Amino acid sequence: MDDKGISVLIPLLTDKPLRESDSDWLVNRQEEISYLNNITAHLPFGILGVAGETGIGKTTVLNFVKPSHVYVQTVNISLRETMESILYDLLYSLASKLEHDNDVGEVARECKDWITEEVATLKGFSLGFSMLGNTEAKFEKSRAPRFNFFAARERLGLLIEETVNAKRKFLLIVDELDKEKKEDVLRVIDALKTQLLIENLVVVFSLPFAIYREYVSDRMRWNEAGNLENVFKDIVFLEPLKALDIKEMLVKRLDRYLDFVEHDVLEVAADFSDGNPRDALWILYKSVYDNIHEDKLRKVHLLNTINKVVKEYISTGVSLTENQKKAVKLLGDYFGPKEGILEILQKNGFKRTTAYSVFEQLVEKRFLIVRDGNYKISGKFKFVDF
Ligand SMILES: Nc1ncnc2c1ncn2[C@@H]1O[C@H](COP(=O)(O)OP(=O)(O)OP(=O)(O)O)[C@@H](O)[C@H]1O
Ligand SMILES: [Mg+2]
Repeated sequence: MDDKGISVLIPLLTDKPLRESDSDWLVNRQEEISYLNNITAHLPFGILGVAGETGIGKTTVLNFVKPSHVYVQTVNISLRETMESILYDLLYSLASKLEHDNDVGEVARECKDWITEEVATLKGFSLGFSMLGNTEAKFEKSRAPRFNFFAARERLGLLIEETVNAKRKFLLIVDELDKEKKEDVLRVIDALKTQLLIENLVVVFSLPFAIYREYVSDRMRWNEAGNLENVFKDIVFLEPLKALDIKEMLVKRLDRYLDFVEHDVLEVAADFSDGNPRDALWILYKSVYDNIHEDKLRKVHLLNTINKVVKEYISTGVSLTENQKKAVKLLGDYFGPKEGILEILQKNGFKRTTAYSVFEQLVEKRFLIVRDGNYKISGKFKFVDF
């Protein structure tokens, strides 16, 4: 064994989206990736979405989308206060990606210069604004420079058009929009429809979970004119991974350092994750830190870390009543329909109405989660002695 102990595991547990060069670490998702490769290669134009809870692997999947004979660019959106700033950021990021391109570099640089100037004016103004006294500020406010939404949109349209003309087929991937509030995402995409729905352009957005949920149940009112279905050609939903996939991911990452973890550790981390790869990496990372001087990470170490983080979480206000705690204990290994849960609770002394409300509350607090239409206690809470 290495005398550095389990600290050698830390770099192997880094949470970062995988790229093509890390394909050794990729598990599952072949189906979603080849579907996206196919559809983006063959669709003449249109908007697609990739949806899923945070940390489930949206960016990772998007990094593997490389359709043949298609020019691909990915942009990230990071300025997010308003719809206008999302558009500015989109234009700026795309222009930055294209500024050294032989075909469209010139147009891209023009866009970048324009936006830099715009933002400087906005910033300069708000700086001056904060230096003025209150009375003058009131007066100045009416002359405040605004985000020039229409001009920015026109430029984005132009840049995209030039790129499509030069490259024949253009796939634009817009990642990180998923952190947005639902309404803002919809408003931005809606406002850009004319610029985005053009021949030979396919756009893929990563989307917040909430949008997908409404898309499926088809209740989403897009605006007066229509709903989500009319805007997205399709939305690919990334389901949580299976426990087996999570274990495979960990085995691939730890590889020749597998001896540094006790066998059951991977099992427990996979359970804890509920199929979310980020959660598995996070809890292991945390546990390695908690036990940095050990020469092997054992199940008992990981269980201690889990207990600690869950208790911290609960102490921030997600309190459980005695009944709810009792139910969590009783349901520890259950996996099945709602009726089965109500039956177990009633057999153990819960009144019918109490069983119902305890069930509802545990679902709402995400102590009970749904997988393939069946319920189970989240792996986050399975190992905790309340
Ligand atoms: N299919 C996979 N195989 C192996 N590791 C994965 C897979 N998908 C995701 N991961 C790992 O899980 C973590 C989260 O992935 P990623 O950043 O792609 O998720 P995300 O859905 O884009 O998250 P966010 O909502 O924060 O943008 C990363 O550390 C990544 O390496
Ligand atoms: Mg991401």
